[in-house]
Amino acid sequence: MAKAVVVYATITGNNQDVADLITDALEKQGVEVEEEEITTADVEDFEDADICVVCPYTYDEGALPEEGLDFYDDLNDADLAGKVYGVAGSGDTFYADDFCRAVDDFGKAFEAAGATKGAENVHIDLAPDEDEDVKKLDAFAAALVKKAEA
Ligand SMILES: Cc1cc2nc3c(=O)[nH]c(=O)nc-3n(C[C@H](O)[C@H](O)[C@H](O)COP(=O)(O)O)c2cc1C
Repeated sequence: MAKAVVVYATITGNNQDVADLITDALEKQGVEVEEEEITTADVEDFEDADICVVCPYTYDEGALPEEGLDFYDDLNDADLAGKVYGVAGSGDTFYADDFCRAVDDFGKAFEAAGATKGAENVHIDLAPDEDEDVKKLDAFAAALVKKAEA
């Protein structure tokens, strides 16, 4: 059975909702999932997983979650060769060019760690809606599983 670790950073709960939806979608596909808040997670936790996911919020005009900066630095320095990664997060389209910038920055950190991209980055506007965003996150999870099984 494939294993996944899903790490989220949140202030108002939207990215926890995103992480919960991804966890549900992965579990439906038979993946064993551990979901963790970023301050209690360690990049080393990814070493036991086949699929590694981060769900970060973006703050202050494109900034990473401050409580996730150590995790981000450790991710850049990690060796995750052979792991499949995906990044999905909620931001606010109001911030235009900085919309969900932290999602793409975490994607770059996974690339630096040598992980394999399993799905396109997902950018969600505010709270995930029950129709369109759930479908997007189901497809994201399915792509990760497919890549991990390849
Ligand atoms: C002061 C402030 C700055 C923000 N800056 C950005 C930003 O640069 N880009 C973005 O996409 N969203 C930005 N947001 C919106 C949050 O990322 C968005 O509300 C997100 O859903 C919060 O996630 P959370 O509920 O998991 O905390 C900002 C919100 C606040 C309050």
